[in-house]
Amino acid sequence: MTDAFENLAAAPLRGLAAYDPGHDLEALRARHAARGLVELGSNENPWGPSPAALAAAREALAGLHRYPDPRGSALRQALAARHRVAADAIVLGNGSHELLMLAAQVFAGPGDEVVVSRYGFAVHALAARAVGARVVTVDALPEQGPAPFGHDLEAMAAALGPRTRMVYVCNPNNPTGTWFPPARLEALLERLPESCVLVVDEAYAEYLDAAASVLDAFAGHPRLVVTRTFSKAYGLAGARVGYAIAHPGLAGLFERLRESFNVSLPALAAATAAVGDPGYVEDVRARNATERAFLAAGLRARGMTVVDSRTNFLLCRLGVHCARIEAGLLERGVVVRPMAGYGLPQHVRISIGRREENAALLDALDRVLESLPC
Ligand SMILES: Cc1ncc(COP(=O)(O)O)c(C=O)c1O
Repeated sequence: MTDAFENLAAAPLRGLAAYDPGHDLEALRARHAARGLVELGSNENPWGPSPAALAAAREALAGLHRYPDPRGSALRQALAARHRVAADAIVLGNGSHELLMLAAQVFAGPGDEVVVSRYGFAVHALAARAVGARVVTVDALPEQGPAPFGHDLEAMAAALGPRTRMVYVCNPNNPTGTWFPPARLEALLERLPESCVLVVDEAYAEYLDAAASVLDAFAGHPRLVVTRTFSKAYGLAGARVGYAIAHPGLAGLFERLRESFNVSLPALAAATAAVGDPGYVEDVRARNATERAFLAAGLRARGMTVVDSRTNFLLCRLGVHCARIEAGLLERGVVVRPMAGYGLPQHVRISIGRREENAALLDALDRVLESLPC
């Protein structure tokens, strides 16, 4: 019977596994309702959105019987001003996940090649496979080096061929937390075939100390797409808003496929207000840096290897007992993200929480480690 359903799927979807969103959080929240669940698995912002964004979302609810602005003009104008590009260089998405999937539909198809990095964000390869493209996975940098598991840009450039239609790069990268100076993309852009587009996923860019985007050096490049999100530093993961910045010619191709009301009314209002409150994001960045240092030091003091991170999460090697430790943490109401699906079975990814959440994680870890056989 399963085969019968499988055969109904379009050819590229056969055998494709759905994106794994991690644990069933609703069930876990119910189970740990008494003491509260410590949620450090999804790289959200534990301090939430700017009060201005929340107020704008609430105000927008009065108009919920109307469709949202299909063009998202106010938000696109605010973003265009912020990034110093034209409004028609901005494409809005129902989260940047949607835009990453759309990018593959726009630029690639059966028989084409899409280059990704091993340990790059899982959605990139999924998006390419879903359109029937062949995924060329380039080995990452070695664990013992300055950017453990990070993108090997030279090897990615060397993997470009006549059939390559897209390259996905994630900077800073999820799940490794590694980052490279965007100017280093110059060589890749120079070697990019005429028929190939570079997609740079900058979901965590707001966490960088100095605003450093590939847009600084290469904005307006005719084959560059940059994706950003309101789900991380802006604290609006539940609103579902992301955007792409691209040459208007490329943005126009996205518009052909974009569902016209893909961003909801409260989400548009919240995101527009959030862009107008840059001080809040700066505050989040500073708090995140303090807590990241606290958590990394706590994990290292317990003998764990932690990859230096430029983001709001840490890739942490728990070792051979990783699965048991992760299960023990969950038992104690602490959620982190297992990394076996990424081919890193001894690692977990831990989002930076508020101080009490980070302390609760370290405390639970101590108790789980005590319970392990020596
Ligand atoms: C690197 C990266 N890109 C994109 C996304 C998608 O985020 P959203 O769809 O919430 O914008 C995520 C979410 O975790 C991510 O880590």
